[in-house]
Amino acid sequence: MPDTAPRGLERLAFGGDYNPEQWPESVWQDDVRLMREAGVNLVSIGIFSWAMLEPAQGRYDFGWLDRIIDLLHENGIRVDLGTPTVAPPAWFYRAHPEALPVSQEGVRYAFGSRGAICHSSTAYREAAAAITEQLALRYGAHPALALWHVHNEYGVPVNACYCDSCAAHFRRWLATAYGTVDAVNEAWGTAFWGQRYGSLDEIEPPRATPTVCNPAQRLDYARFADATMRENFVAERDLLHRLAPGTPVTTNFMTALSQCDSVDYWAWAREVDLVTNDHYLITDGRRTHVNLAMAADLTRSVAAGEPWLLLEHSTSGVNWQPRNPAKAPGQMARNSLAHVARGSEGAMFFQWRQSRRGAEKFHSAMVPHAGTDSRVWREVVRLGADLDGLATVRGTRTVADAAMLWDWQSWWAQRLEWRPSEDHDARERADTFYEALYDRHLTIDFAHPDADLSAYPLVVVPALYLATEATGRNLRAYVENGGTLVVSYFSGIVDANDAVHPGAHPGALRDVLGLTVEEFSPLGTGERVRITAADGAELTGDVWTEFVVPQGAETVWTYADGLTADRPAVTRHRLGEGTAWYISTRLDAPSLDTILGVAAADAGIAPRAELPCDIEVVRRAGENGSYLFVINHTGTDTEVPLTGDGTELLTGERAAGGLAVPAGAVRVVRFDD
Ligand code: GAL
Repeated sequence: MPDTAPRGLERLAFGGDYNPEQWPESVWQDDVRLMREAGVNLVSIGIFSWAMLEPAQGRYDFGWLDRIIDLLHENGIRVDLGTPTVAPPAWFYRAHPEALPVSQEGVRYAFGSRGAICHSSTAYREAAAAITEQLALRYGAHPALALWHVHNEYGVPVNACYCDSCAAHFRRWLATAYGTVDAVNEAWGTAFWGQRYGSLDEIEPPRATPTVCNPAQRLDYARFADATMRENFVAERDLLHRLAPGTPVTTNFMTALSQCDSVDYWAWAREVDLVTNDHYLITDGRRTHVNLAMAADLTRSVAAGEPWLLLEHSTSGVNWQPRNPAKAPGQMARNSLAHVARGSEGAMFFQWRQSRRGAEKFHSAMVPHAGTDSRVWREVVRLGADLDGLATVRGTRTVADAAMLWDWQSWWAQRLEWRPSEDHDARERADTFYEALYDRHLTIDFAHPDADLSAYPLVVVPALYLATEATGRNLRAYVENGGTLVVSYFSGIVDANDAVHPGAHPGALRDVLGLTVEEFSPLGTGERVRITAADGAELTGDVWTEFVVPQGAETVWTYADGLTADRPAVTRHRLGEGTAWYISTRLDAPSLDTILGVAAADAGIAPRAELPCDIEVVRRAGENGSYLFVINHTGTDTEVPLTGDGTELLTGERAAGGLAVPAGAVRVVRFDD
């Protein structure tokens, strides 16, 4: 069993993607000198270097990689070594053009970028195994090696290929999953629109069709594409484990739902030795620090609460959005330490030295074009020192207050065409519920719908369109045993094959919610409904309403207008020792906060009213002590009350009773034992 922590690191990891092959060797000396100056202890190398390492099939050139790894080692810097299998060389495609992926519309992508891979291609699999084997044999025992970094961000930029090899592979996958063509016909409901298959050989990928393609076929293809990428990861991982044992193997995830949507990270996390994640701020008007916190919480959760590592983020602006603002002074440190607060064992960046050439030359880096006489560099050096001061945090675990259910497969199903309203978006509900809980200063674990939820006083379910009967039983047991559950509309509707559960909606959740839904009644663009309580209070919803029929649940809020006027809008079902809430419309943020406030009270979660908005407070605890991270995202100095005395690790000052956190600053208190 390989270790799960990068080998040989004694502090939090600090460094980034390092692409020495883009620079003359004369620059390397300067690189390692600056790395030492900043306190860098880990760099990711070789991720895109296949063409340099194997310039022609079977002809290898490891000289430059030997020299840079040795140089890093001499300077005490450890290596996260990439297998470069995300970027096959030009010679490979010349020999195997069929390994280029094909889009749903039938376009075969060309060489000249990266990630152009058909994961079903035998030629690709063989070539990937060959270069991985060479690297394992050559560097497996190198003392600088800390971590293996397989491939890069599976699932982006291509999430599925629709070529003939994939068609054949899909049929094999279906044969394993279903056994017979009759079972596929049943699962996919092919009696509809005359889609019945006489043999598995007749089945194709869900390529472009004249109108809506069979949704169960689409859903299975998404599962197949994900599983096929995972097969290739596992093949490389197994080679590395066998030929270079003792070093953990990872591949960098992208858990932010806005950045990669095609990978089921619950399944992937079981395959890696260490969960690592890449995160970039999306500047689309939403609060980037909330989005970051959500991605970090999701990463920790797929890692089952174990420590994980932020393998990439940016020192300042990225270059792939329409507009790429620079980070504000101090924002890089706030971002980095927010990841650490939420379980990361360090903060790594893309990339070390800003490129002069290629597609990413306007992406920020640790050493910017401007050089070391720059704000970015000074902040990098400062962050290195800050992380050094937090070394004892390693191994502690982030403490969560509540859980949110999240399932990528349910999301894939919900997004397919011809739903009651295209305005309903599972990700939007997840984001909005998360933001509401963040603003209540609650730290959230994500949980798979079938996970043991008994540790959480409160579980929210913002978007679970696909829920099996087993999930329904799990949630019922959770509530009966004293849990508080909050479920949002259009959850529990279909089974694993996108077939509506028999009987009235929401089939999988009728029991636990104590109600049925007779009919959905989505709203028009811009249309709103008012919802009132007995005491006259008012909430607002849009996008969606329903005809809810209580079957044991009590009506707490009622629709005041629209087609569903006078019918239940928000209900509460007392069941066993617990309570299940149901929200049948898309509440706006203040309305949702009202309901979550009542539900949190049901769950016995005390309000943290004393903390101002955008003061992020997260706790890590374990054998190495108990730590409170306070991140001030506002422009105003603040004082946070403390229970217990301790030492603030970034300033070295004593903290007792209260903690002063200047505007934009981060403070980390280690409590006295
Ligand atoms: C990541 C990728 C890096 C780099 C970075 C730029 O998704 O892994 O190689 O492209 O984005 O933000």
